Amino acid sequence: MIRKIIIAIDGYSSTGKSTVARQLAKELGYIYVDTGAMYRAVTLYAMQQGFIDENQFDKDALAKNLHLINIRFEVSSSTGLAEVFLNDVNVEKEIRTLKVSRQVSPVAAISSVRRKLVEQQQLMGKNSGIVMDGRDIGTVVFPNAELKLFMTATAKDRAERRYKELIERGEDVTYEDVLKNVVNRDHIDSTRKDSPLRKADDAIKIDNSNLTLVEQFDQILNIAKKTITKI
Ligand code: DC
Repeated sequence: MIRKIIIAIDGYSSTGKSTVARQLAKELGYIYVDTGAMYRAVTLYAMQQGFIDENQFDKDALAKNLHLINIRFEVSSSTGLAEVFLNDVNVEKEIRTLKVSRQVSPVAAISSVRRKLVEQQQLMGKNSGIVMDGRDIGTVVFPNAELKLFMTATAKDRAERRYKELIERGEDVTYEDVLKNVVNRDHIDSTRKDSPLRKADDAIKIDNSNLTLVEQFDQILNIAKKTITKI
């Protein structure tokens, strides 16, 4: 029997982690978990409750209400993709807006938020056969993952991809706003005290600035297959 493994994919924002992680999970018959979506769902909850906006952030109120937040994934019958539910409401579209992107990093810096989500992520991966992407998967959530990848690309390349995505979804944004958000999030995510974004020592670095999606996927699938057959 082929043993199933844990594949941890970390990296900067908008490096295409989710796309490659989803493809990889499909190809291997693994479960895919987008942990950024979980931090985004908590952020949306905080926004809905008025705990956070551009001018203020009541961290204590969010911390006190964490037990009221339920996040789960459900595979959509129409797209076949996992979608995020916040307290039983499908918020898949809402959590991807620039409005949520602007508030998510300070929320993800709160230790009690991280503890709650990391615990849920570790439970999801307890039977292996999982591809999980985020910022701390190889360092904190699954430090013993059999395969760790760390994705990077220039801020300009990442902002261009993100901008195209948001415009295709009908959002009214400028390229400059998206670039500012990408750079700002990377800064907060990498400098926060709790579980900052960093490459695990044993992670393989993939710079995809000059790779097409197909080239990148082939490269990663190759690495994954080699890892699986070695174990
Ligand atoms: O991957 P993403 O852009 O959807 O992630 C949204 C934010 O959540 C990102 O700015 C950092 C945070 N995040 C995190 O701190 N830890 C994770 N495992 C995943 C995301």
